Amino acid sequence: MDNPEHKIWLEGVSKVLYTNGRPLPVLERVDFFAQDGEFVSIIGPSGCGKSTLLNIIAGLEEPDGGAIRFGGHDAPSRLGLAGYMHQKDLLLPWRTVLDNAILGLEVQGVPRSEAHRRARLLMGRFGLTGFESEYPYALSGGMRQRAAFLRTVLAEKDLLLLDEPFGALDALTRVHMQEWLLDLWESLKKTIVLVTHDVDEAVLLSDRVYVLTARPGRVKLVQRVDLPRPRRYDMVTWGEFVALKATLVRSLREESHPDRGAEAHIPGARELRHGSTEVPQ
Ligand SMILES: Nc1ncnc2c1ncn2[C@@H]1O[C@H](COP(=O)(O)OP(=O)(O)O)[C@@H](O)[C@H]1O
Ligand SMILES: [Mg+2]
Repeated sequence: MDNPEHKIWLEGVSKVLYTNGRPLPVLERVDFFAQDGEFVSIIGPSGCGKSTLLNIIAGLEEPDGGAIRFGGHDAPSRLGLAGYMHQKDLLLPWRTVLDNAILGLEVQGVPRSEAHRRARLLMGRFGLTGFESEYPYALSGGMRQRAAFLRTVLAEKDLLLLDEPFGALDALTRVHMQEWLLDLWESLKKTIVLVTHDVDEAVLLSDRVYVLTARPGRVKLVQRVDLPRPRRYDMVTWGEFVALKATLVRSLREESHPDRGAEAHIPGARELRHGSTEVPQ
């Protein structure tokens, strides 16, 4: 399974960040990989280093220790190799949907007319037909998210890094977006690494789920999800689904055990009280 030839492969990756000159160990000896065409999710307590891990994969940050390979090659400069949708990815309010979508292509130097042509081809798939000339404020949350997705997908990278893309959406819109992403991924055949705080989302979408410990983030559990594909939302009621979810929630809950002194981040504890499976943010 673990193989340095994979699309992305990390071994022993550590990272220390500095706040006010004081070192903060954020990631500790993280081993991680995603195969070609695989859908991999990362869950873990708030502040455990998930976004930092994506930043490192994207090449925005360098690890302090460990090795990273991209498509089987050492990847000292990885910037631009992956499509990256940040946690706070915002559309530019002064650009139309179409012009927001082509931002990445423009930065790459693709002529505007050609970029527009490519974007228009995908508008239907992204549920944005008829909204090309609208400005972001006129769109629903789900549509804004799909427009940001379109921008990421248009960059035509084989690897997409998605940082909590549905975190700000209401529950129903989120389910629609998850089903839409499943369809899109099954047709695009791209490798996706998704950070999420929603355990259902991780199980429903993924081939494998990484659970990170509280900071400094270490890999606590790697869980295969062998549910059949294509996946549908009603699978969340299947016994197999519920069992996988229980395993993940248990693993997250251990992270918040009072003995570990991580009371501030209590993933899994809240769902016991409120019946939801979201990791508190
Ligand atoms: N640029 C930075 N400088 C210093 N500390 C940071 C920086 N970015 C994030 N941190 C801290 O590092 C920890 C991990 O952050 P992050 O990777 O964003 O966590 P997560 O995405 O899992 O919530 C947090 O405690 C955060 O406050
Ligand atoms: Mg984050």
